[in-house]
Amino acid sequence: MTDKKLIGKYKTYIKEKLSKKRYTHSINVANAALELARRYGADEDKAYIAGLLHDCAKEMPIEEQLALVKHSQLDVDDIETKATPLYHAIAGAEIVRAALDIKDPDIILAIRYHTVGCGSMSLLSQIVYLADLISEDRDYKDVKKMRKYAVQSLDKAMFEAFRFSIKDSAEKGNLIPKSTFDAYNEFAAIMKRSPERE
Ligand SMILES: [Fe+2]
Ligand SMILES: [Fe+2]
Repeated sequence: MTDKKLIGKYKTYIKEKLSKKRYTHSINVANAALELARRYGADEDKAYIAGLLHDCAKEMPIEEQLALVKHSQLDVDDIETKATPLYHAIAGAEIVRAALDIKDPDIILAIRYHTVGCGSMSLLSQIVYLADLISEDRDYKDVKKMRKYAVQSLDKAMFEAFRFSIKDSAEKGNLIPKSTFDAYNEFAAIMKRSPERE
């Protein structure tokens, strides 16, 4: 495991910035990401850190989040500047870089894409995306199904996650960034080729 002091510093940071409920969620996502990293052979330290910090900007004032989104050097879809719930992922990626001095691009991108996904997602990004959906505190209708998929097959779990996300967003009439469709199409293509498709 990475330097325990460093993990302690990150935990202190989010404890200050987040409500108790969201701090617990962050710890749960870190643990779920660590478990998935062990299962699928990703870097365990990076998975834990990215899971821990993925929502670090979620409770910042929305104008501050938007300012970080607007000034971000990261690739930002126009739609992401119009949907407030999406700001925190980009803002969070900027914050870990600036405030916590995290330079690892894999960690930064896993945080940046944890809400919308993207084409050619790295293994770490997939793990953090999924960990956020299956963490212990989650209790939406199909969470048990999603947890089952997560241990069976990462591809299947990601396919189901994007299928659900797109369907849900469309039903609510929300805007959907192109990168989410890119992710969905990639996993749908994998599932079409795969015999385990149900
Ligand atoms: Fe989030
Ligand atoms: Fe989250």
